[in-house]
Amino acid sequence: MKFRFKARLGACMLLGAALSGHAMAQKFEELAATPQMGWNSWNKFACEIDERLIRETADAMVKQGMKDAGYQYINIDDCWHGVRDADGNIQPDAKRFPSGMKALADYVHGKGLKLGIYSDAGATTCGGHPGSRGHEYQDAITYARWGIDYVKYDWCDTKGLNAEAAYTTMRDAIRAAGRPMLFSICEWGDNKPWEWAGPVGHSWRTTGDIAPCWDCEIGHGSWSSLGVLRILDKQAPARKFAGPGHWNDMDMLEVGNGMTEDEDRAHMSIWAMLASPLISGNDLRTMPEATRRILTHAGIIAINQDKLGIPAFRAYADGRMEVWARPLADGQWALMFLNRSGQAIDYRHDWREHPIGDDVSKRSAEFGKTTYRWSDVWGKRTGDTSTKLETRIAPRSALVLRLAITNQESK
Ligand code: GLA
Repeated sequence: MKFRFKARLGACMLLGAALSGHAMAQKFEELAATPQMGWNSWNKFACEIDERLIRETADAMVKQGMKDAGYQYINIDDCWHGVRDADGNIQPDAKRFPSGMKALADYVHGKGLKLGIYSDAGATTCGGHPGSRGHEYQDAITYARWGIDYVKYDWCDTKGLNAEAAYTTMRDAIRAAGRPMLFSICEWGDNKPWEWAGPVGHSWRTTGDIAPCWDCEIGHGSWSSLGVLRILDKQAPARKFAGPGHWNDMDMLEVGNGMTEDEDRAHMSIWAMLASPLISGNDLRTMPEATRRILTHAGIIAINQDKLGIPAFRAYADGRMEVWARPLADGQWALMFLNRSGQAIDYRHDWREHPIGDDVSKRSAEFGKTTYRWSDVWGKRTGDTSTKLETRIAPRSALVLRLAITNQESK
């Protein structure tokens, strides 16, 4: 039995290599021209998932206006797995997914959405389920048959494995399986994936797991989860490596999972400014209107999806307040005034004294020479850079402005 299994697996891998042919060593390029948008089960539901939740979430994605706002993927995270059959084919947990993954994919596709799945480069996933190690080509073929559109690939149980090689194997397996599937690398930034993963995946996690808090770090023994600011503060080294088709993934959103409305809005602003994938992680079926408005806000999503794909950088900081700048298409800019602190800040910004220069994109904004009109993305205010910005910024919140040149030389 064991011998037969190995022989079949060998044949399967050979088939994979043959199928890939000249296409070997390429990901499906066209899948993430802008950061991917969707939903993932993990942050809210962890292992408490089943096909009903996935179907209801797909329904909610449409009903709540998330699909119209640009969200596309419904991603099943860890714990969907059953066992491998005698030939090594992975099967879903028959109790939780009795109709099977193909039927679920058909349902999700019927809503005009796409279905994502989760696996791991090691022998077992972080939740202790079967990983893909040694089954990469076989699993990719299975996912393609089911109609999967997105693979999140985790990094548990990988002691001794080379990350670049392991993720490249799965990329090649997906290519060989022949179905375009967005490849989301989840290696927590341990091996600096921004330096090597551009040709391998469409996004790579830059940090450990997110937690629904502003500035906390929660220990779990060998690892800790991180609040919004802790994740933000780890992004600088990865910035210059992101762009269309390959994004720094700051982890799934915690909007609607327990932070205040201001914190949620700032969290969404930060992920938008830094061009992170926007993968909601709350219960879409029951979310309050305030959460829905944050997740579907057209102005902030437009910044995230800006076609230049240049993440923001920290332009100015004074401890409690930070100004982040993102160069946008058509000579525009997005600016985020982030109050990290627990106190409101009465802020006065003299534009002329704060020109912006970006070494990476080579873009600059000389407010002493050029006047920009600005509009408050979350609010209604407008103004221009010829006069000082005076504003009160609530504790733990962000003001985001979109700036466009007025074509008027300032005096
Ligand atoms: C890791 C990942 C998480 C999630 C869990 C599932 O911690 O980083 O995003 O997928 O595994 O077990």
